[in-house]
Amino acid sequence: MEDQVEEIKRKTDIVGVVGSYVALKKMGRHHKGLCPFHSEKTPSFMVNEEMGLYKCFGCGAGGDVIKFLMEIEGIEFREALERLAEKAGVKLVSRRRDDNDERTKMLEVMDLAARYYHWLLMEGNAGEAAREYLRGRKINEKLMETFNIGFAMQSWEGVVNYLIKKKGYSEELLEKVGLVSRKSKDGGVYDKFRGRIMFPLQDAGGKVVGFTGRILPSLAKDDEPKYMNSPETALYHKSRMLYGFFQAKKAVREKRRAILVEGQMDCISSFASGITETVAVGGTALTEDQVELLARLADKIYLSMDADEAGSVAIKRSVELAEKRGMSIKVVQIEGGKDPDEIARKSPEKWRELVEKSVDVYEFIMTAAFKKFDATKVEGIKKITEEVVPFLAKIENGVVREVWAKRLADKIGVATKGVIGEIEKKISGKQETKNTSEERGEVEEKRIVKLARRLIGLLILRQEAVKVVAPWFGGVSVAGAEGKLITWLLENGENQPVDELVKNIPEELREVAGEAYMAEDSEEVPGQKEVEEAAVQLLREIIRDRKKEIMEEMNLARREKNEEKEDEIFAKLNELNKKESKIIAFLG
Ligand code: UTP
Ligand code: MN
Repeated sequence: MEDQVEEIKRKTDIVGVVGSYVALKKMGRHHKGLCPFHSEKTPSFMVNEEMGLYKCFGCGAGGDVIKFLMEIEGIEFREALERLAEKAGVKLVSRRRDDNDERTKMLEVMDLAARYYHWLLMEGNAGEAAREYLRGRKINEKLMETFNIGFAMQSWEGVVNYLIKKKGYSEELLEKVGLVSRKSKDGGVYDKFRGRIMFPLQDAGGKVVGFTGRILPSLAKDDEPKYMNSPETALYHKSRMLYGFFQAKKAVREKRRAILVEGQMDCISSFASGITETVAVGGTALTEDQVELLARLADKIYLSMDADEAGSVAIKRSVELAEKRGMSIKVVQIEGGKDPDEIARKSPEKWRELVEKSVDVYEFIMTAAFKKFDATKVEGIKKITEEVVPFLAKIENGVVREVWAKRLADKIGVATKGVIGEIEKKISGKQETKNTSEERGEVEEKRIVKLARRLIGLLILRQEAVKVVAPWFGGVSVAGAEGKLITWLLENGENQPVDELVKNIPEELREVAGEAYMAEDSEEVPGQKEVEEAAVQLLREIIRDRKKEIMEEMNLARREKNEEKEDEIFAKLNELNKKESKIIAFLG
């Protein structure tokens, strides 16, 4: 498996794969383009063929070609690998054969079931009424195809007959994917979905992993729920599912936004009105996994729910999840119908208009609070503040937070200071106070990492500098993967072409190497002096850091009156001081 991944990566042209999503231009050693993972106007997204890596210096996204496909398509590792393998002409063999077989079988039977239901809807006699019903809801044949909609007969043995008796799949398998239920512990099985319009739930790669079935009104019985979902299975996890994502993802990526609706019907009608970047949560609250899926492709989520749900748990949760992922939230107001489906069906144009007229969630919350309470009374203002401030406190970006604080302050006619004070109270109430020395440590570490990466990039480009620089690092250790890579380069770097060098770099260090290399985007090869200076800067920073640590040890030894230890530490310090002056002398 490990070798196969390498083989596939080797045989895949990363520039070609990325280039089919992003317009790339060769600039010097790398290909450059506008990052598909965040909005930008000047390109900071790099792809390098020799390294087989991509990296965005704007948002930090980066990795190999498999990671790229996973992120851009929102698919799992396995699926990405399969697609690349097929293109590269590599036949995948799995180590965990049984698992693989089981999953493949489950997907196979779900696919067949979806075809069966779809056929019944499109061609079957029993599907006639369902077809009529859908047409009545303005769902035409083309939409039925796009969303692979189907129909389950009003029968206890539809899939049982077709998939078990005719196609020979086992009862256990059908139970596992949630298509049938068992009568009693050792009784037979029967169809779970009966007399329902079937909406296949597809994963991001388009594979059917579950179903939602809507009862056909003419067949409805009192005790049956309107919608019924597949149970959680090895294939289907409700919290990770976004209905319509497979159909929407291209538009989501291009428009960098996703319209979130509640139900399957809302999703399809919105799609039909031209808002093809619509997905449905299926009647539950937004989850972290769903936000994650969208965050790879978009930076805005448009919520469309009832107006009186303002300040509800659902919005609060969505804002929190989105802010955490750096996404912003807008709210589409529902007007002229009870849900997006009704509005879009009556007038596609009206729905498109509502989407474009959506307001920022903070604006929405403020407006709702002003409607609810009397802003001319002190008590009302207090209530408004209590409702709005918790939301504003969640805004991660300080500048944006202040903008909204000012708007609220203006609206209630007080100084911005007061509102900011309230927000800060809320924030500090939640956060445990951060250890500032710890924070400082983090900043220093970041600086060292940056300097280390700079040196790595330069050493890859000018390997002859290794000879000069290597002795300077005697007795100094650089932390982390960067440190390991510098040590490796100092030991192994000699004049070889970059793609040769890359092959030899230990696997776990390749990504760091690639990122550092891609950060060097000037067309010229750096001069010897440039490399030396980068090495000196890094060494100086490390020595300073180390000295600080030693001083702390020293203070401790003094307090303990441990003279022996004090001498020992003093010797170390002297050593470092000597090294430092040598380096400073070089800097001249
Ligand atoms: P709604 O009751 O608003 O249904 O539930 P709807 O979307 O308007 O459906 P139509 O227009 O009557 O066909 C919203 C969503 O909640 C889920 C479904 O995903 C539904 O689309 N739901 C609803 C269930 O899972 N089970 C139910 O019994 C009802
Ligand atoms: Mn509806």
